[in-house]
Amino acid sequence: MSGGVLGLVASGAGGVERWFRGGLAEPAAARGWRLAITLTPAAARWLEAAGELDALRACTDLPVRWTSRLPSEPKPHPVPDVFVFAPATANSVAKLALGLADNQALTVVCEALGMPDVPVVVQPRAGEAQRRHPAWAGHLATLRSAGVHLVEASGPEAVLDHLDRSF
Ligand SMILES: Cc1cc2nc3c(=O)[nH]c(=O)nc-3n(C[C@H](O)[C@H](O)[C@H](O)COP(=O)(O)O)c2cc1C
Repeated sequence: MSGGVLGLVASGAGGVERWFRGGLAEPAAARGWRLAITLTPAAARWLEAAGELDALRACTDLPVRWTSRLPSEPKPHPVPDVFVFAPATANSVAKLALGLADNQALTVVCEALGMPDVPVVVQPRAGEAQRRHPAWAGHLATLRSAGVHLVEASGPEAVLDHLDRSF
């Protein structure tokens, strides 16, 4: 399916500002995906502070988003063929499992979970203490049962491998 629209979503996990563009967005674009990039507010702040946003914008003809549109504005992104949420923090994993769409990134991925034709790939990135939270295992089980492709290995290469093999 490479050549389609890839909904690429990132949240505020350590290192995202260093590898998201060069490790994931650029290689995905080089594989022929048209990127519809949406960031959580934390990820947007970090990427902006790292001076990454202009280079990220250069990966796609679509706007890089982290805020919602006005009701009078058209949707800036087409519906993606596949979503990849990487990295997904413990916070964002919990919100996704519960259907909490309180920012633009969670809005698009929560909606995709209700679209049977749109596969969703999630790479959780959480520390040991966050993984020991009593709700963590339940959140992952919820996402698995919803058909989410969970990439357990770390790093952008694991996400690209999954994309290459599955879509
Ligand atoms: C330097 C730094 C690194 C962080 N790394 C992680 C991480 O790897 N995983 C995680 O779940 N949260 C991490 N956090 C905490 C999240 O950024 C925080 O929970 C934030 O609210 C996540 O928001 P988001 O999910 O909307 O992006 C980190 C915070 C900081 C300041």
